[in-house]
Amino acid sequence: MKTFPTSAVWCLGILFISVSLITTGSSEVQVVGPADRVVAVAGDDVILPCSLKPSVNAEDMTVEWTRLSLKAENVHLYRQDRDSNEDQFPSYKGRTSLFNEELKKGNVSLKLTRVTLSDAGSYRCFIPTLTSQVKETTVQLLVGAVSQPVISIVGTKGWGVVLKCESGGWFPEPEMEWLDSSRTILPADGPPERHRDSGLYAVRRHVTVDQTDTNNFTCRVHQLEINHLKETEIHVPGEVFIG
Ligand SMILES: *[C@@H]1O[C@H](CO)[C@@H](O)[C@H](O)[C@H]1NC(C)=O
Ligand SMILES: *[C@@H]1O[C@H](CO)[C@@H](O)[C@H](O)[C@H]1NC(C)=O
Repeated sequence: MKTFPTSAVWCLGILFISVSLITTGSSEVQVVGPADRVVAVAGDDVILPCSLKPSVNAEDMTVEWTRLSLKAENVHLYRQDRDSNEDQFPSYKGRTSLFNEELKKGNVSLKLTRVTLSDAGSYRCFIPTLTSQVKETTVQLLVGAVSQPVISIVGTKGWGVVLKCESGGWFPEPEMEWLDSSRTILPADGPPERHRDSGLYAVRRHVTVDQTDTNNFTCRVHQLEINHLKETEIHVPGEVFIG
């Protein structure tokens, strides 16, 4: 087999680099979104990331944010150097903005204030004025709801005291655990009782505890997907154990 002359390899290499340089023009600007979905808790303000890569000035571009629901909803429209929200879907009125100072850096992220559970879903960031192949990206928004657990003393059972922990208003469905003061999970009186009310989850769980050196017990509710945890501690007075 004949070996390829070194000079030819060089020529090909230089040619390849030149072609790469030429094609990295404005037509290669791409719209990029976040690697992961965006997670928020109802009531929060949230940023849906979207930017141009390489970063070129987006002030003169058209930026369309829509939610991909059954029918696409107009979330935010920026056109001819300003916001143009005449056809905005009603539930987004007054809650959306772009970062004006960031536009020149190609950052067309959307700020959405006072997020609600019904805002969850897929959002499309679309720049129709780009000439490249990748003019859009989608951002997933997951919205959760959390609430503080409430502990009550139910009564006594043998030498023990029965405690009840309740927490409503969660989304998605959370886990509930009883802990002692050394953070050890206590065996509860059965699995958590759950119910769903107008889209939100409520959880309840009983535990029977024996007297300890602190008589302090904690109910912990957590939701992994939204990475939220709420705890309430109770101190059971010693005399309750004597009944
Ligand atoms: C875009 O701007 C927002 C708000 O200042 C910021 O949080 C975000 O990190 C920026 N994104 C990029 C890619 O610079
Ligand atoms: C026990 O609980 C009470 C009330 O929740 C708290 O004020 C106290 O610091 C706790 N004591 C210990 C030792 O954790």
